Amino acid sequence: MRIGFFGFGNMGRAIGAALDSQISGLEFFIYTPSGSTPLLEIPKDLDYYILAFKPQSLEEFHFDFLPEHKIISLLAGVSLETLIRKFHVSKIARFMPNTPALYREGAGLLFLSLKYSKDEKEQTIKMLESTGKVFLMETEDQLDRATGFTGSGPGLIFEMARIFEEELNKLTDNKLPARDMIAQTFFGAATLMQNDSSRFSELRDSVTSKKGVTYEALEVFKENQLQEIMSKAFAAAYKRTKEFK
Ligand SMILES: NC(=O)c1ccc[n+]([C@@H]2O[C@H](COP(=O)([O-])OP(=O)(O)OC[C@H]3O[C@@H](n4cnc5c(N)ncnc54)[C@H](OP(=O)(O)O)[C@@H]3O)[C@@H](O)[C@H]2O)c1
Repeated sequence: MRIGFFGFGNMGRAIGAALDSQISGLEFFIYTPSGSTPLLEIPKDLDYYILAFKPQSLEEFHFDFLPEHKIISLLAGVSLETLIRKFHVSKIARFMPNTPALYREGAGLLFLSLKYSKDEKEQTIKMLESTGKVFLMETEDQLDRATGFTGSGPGLIFEMARIFEEELNKLTDNKLPARDMIAQTFFGAATLMQNDSSRFSELRDSVTSKKGVTYEALEVFKENQLQEIMSKAFAAAYKRTKEFK
C-alpha cells in the first residue's frame, strides 16, 4: 500500500508509526512545507492521501487531486462539504484520532462519505485499526460532538494527571516519585475500566466506602460542581470544533 501524508507533525507521525508497525510493505510519501520533498513530487497514484496538517493551514494548502483519489482528513471540525468543495474528490473520510495511536491504543472516530464502496470501507477501517480502536460515526455531527472527548481526551487527562502530581508533591514535600505513582494509578484505573464492564459509577462506588477517604474527596468534587466545570469544557471544545467547519 502506498500512502501520501500532507503534514507530518505529532499526529501524522503517530499514525505513520502505527501503520508501519502493523502493515508490511507500506510506502510513505510525505510533504511538509519545511521538508525536502516538493509537493509536485507526491505521486498521483497512491492508495490514500492523508491530510495531517492543522485546519488553519487548509486555505493555503493546494494539491491537484484526481476525482478517484481517496482522502483521509484528520482536520478537526472541517466538514466533508468544505473538503469536497475544495478538492473535487468525493471519496473522503474524516478520521479523528488521538495520540495514543502511537502505541496502537488510540480511540479513533471515523466518518466515511457514501462514495466509499463496501470493500473500500472495510479496507479503510482495517488500515486505521492499526492505530487502535475505530468507532464508526453515523453522522458528521457525532464526530464533531465526540472530538472534545477522544481527540482532545488525552490532553484533558494529562491535565488531570498534572494536578494529581502537583498536589501529591505539595503534600509530601517532593519526597516521593509522584510522576510514576500517578502514571501507574491512571494506567491501573484504565486497565480496570477495560477489563471490567461495570458502569463507571459502579467502579467508583466499589472503591468508595461511606465516610471513607475516597468519599471525602468525592464530596469536595460534588460541592464544587466538578461535573458542571467539565460540562462547560466539553461545550467549549464542541463550539471550537464547529468554528473550523
Ligand atoms: N495532536 C492531536 O492530539 C490530534 C488529535 C486529533 C486530531 N488531530 C488533527 O491532526 C492534524 C495535525 O495535528 P498535529 O498535532 O499533528 O499538528 P502539528 O504537530 O502542528 O503538525 C502539523 C504538520 O502540518 C505541516 N504543515 C503546515 N502547513 C502545511 C501545509 N500548508 N501543507 C501541508 N502540511 C503543512 C507541518 O509541517 P512543518 O513542520 O513543515 O510546518 C507539520 O508537519 C490537525 O488537523 C488536528 O486537528 C490532532
